[in-house]
Amino acid sequence: MIALLAAACGGTTTPSTATTSAPTTTTPVESAPLIAAPTDERFEVVADGSNGPTARVFVSYPRVAGADSFNDAVGEDVRAQLDEFNELYIGDEPGGVAIPELNVSFDYLVASGDVLGVRLESYEFAGASGGTSWRTVYYDAREGLVRSAIELLTGEAAFTELVAVAQTELSDRGFGPSPNPGAGAAVRNYDSLAFLANGDLLVEFDDYQVASGGDGRVAFVVEAATVDPWLSDFGRRVQAQVMSPDGALTLPTAPPTTAAPPTTTSPTPATTPPATTDAPTTDPPPTTIPAPGSGEDVDCAIVACVALTFDDGPVASTNRLLAILAERNVQVTFFPVGSNVERNPDIAAAAVAAGHEVGNHTFDHVDLTTRSPDIIREQMQSTQAAVRAATGVTPTLFRAPYGATNGDVAAFGLPQIMWSVDPEDWKDRDADIVAQRVLAETDAGEIVLLHDIHPTSVDAIPAILDGFAERGFTVVPVTTLLGGDLTPGEVYYRR
Ligand code: NI
Repeated sequence: MIALLAAACGGTTTPSTATTSAPTTTTPVESAPLIAAPTDERFEVVADGSNGPTARVFVSYPRVAGADSFNDAVGEDVRAQLDEFNELYIGDEPGGVAIPELNVSFDYLVASGDVLGVRLESYEFAGASGGTSWRTVYYDAREGLVRSAIELLTGEAAFTELVAVAQTELSDRGFGPSPNPGAGAAVRNYDSLAFLANGDLLVEFDDYQVASGGDGRVAFVVEAATVDPWLSDFGRRVQAQVMSPDGALTLPTAPPTTAAPPTTTSPTPATTPPATTDAPTTDPPPTTIPAPGSGEDVDCAIVACVALTFDDGPVASTNRLLAILAERNVQVTFFPVGSNVERNPDIAAAAVAAGHEVGNHTFDHVDLTTRSPDIIREQMQSTQAAVRAATGVTPTLFRAPYGATNGDVAAFGLPQIMWSVDPEDWKDRDADIVAQRVLAETDAGEIVLLHDIHPTSVDAIPAILDGFAERGFTVVPVTTLLGGDLTPGEVYYRR
């Protein structure tokens, strides 16, 4: 999303004379004022994905212990998108062209005092072209209530004025007919509102909402002086916390909860948000530090080696996996997404400290084959940086999301690690099935694909390790399996 944020944002804004006398906007700042993810353990990431023949899905969204209505609203938002996407694409005959993709990511806007705000971003690729949409979700921790973007404003009159300003702005910038139907007075048209650090209000529209796709994201800024009379009490509190954060988010009652959010009722076997995430663990990371990459002294030309790989984390369930692996003194390879590394740097650091190998799986888990060379580079570079910042180690391996790669990906210069055993753990969330498949399909020299974002896959690991031990397999990181000295850009499936 980093690259998308930097994407074309239309022209400069101009003063508007709409329905207020105050100057509206002259600020060219149009990026949402995102903040770094809070790292205290109340803030969790829920990640999920699927890799079917007709659709590719990856979603990540926040879960904040103690903010139940917020969690429900965000989970419901993502679930509704998934259902809609699945209905359209799951089960279609493979089209032979590009595979449709849904990618949901998020950033925090504010998490301070008694207000919380996130911005959800959805990229949907329909097989020919893609578009991105955004919406903001707020939480009033004083009242324990979730608030929509429009609740930053104080009623109908303020909303009407905002709409008028937007119409003038779009007209001045030459977007669409006037009035622009995509910016009409419907609440759904104004579902992404955020404050800048100076108190101005950022208003943003989805791709295709108010302009043609080629215009990219359209956003504009309304000056604080203009916005001031429009704000609700809640809006004022959010604005104040963005401009001058109190510090940590204060939730009314924040007992660490292990209660599961509502389970999904989606009938498809495709991706559904997991019913639960692992509770934040307070177990310290393993403190016995084996020599980094302790599998390195294993010669897989002689020994029967296999490599276990874990994609898409780190999330809370990764901690549990690390504990299992530490107990058995087994080293594996992780392919984390950069966004999750930024949100859970401690988990990534614990993995490296325990001797595991950590690769690169892009920042937002995007299908790179439908992105521009610039976005490909940005997705890969930002993940290198995130892993380096969290762990001190720069990845030397890459795995393309969905295994989808091309020459631009290869040109980045990291060896590309695919897999030869895929138990489809995203499809069957059942530890026994996952373990059975892995044990049935794995021979010496193979690379096994698993996902540490699925608690059921973590549950399968003890049985998998037992089965491997019975067959005399030694589990090693991928680089050890392949004997080191990998070729930049080359694709590896197994030893
Ligand atoms: Ni993945």
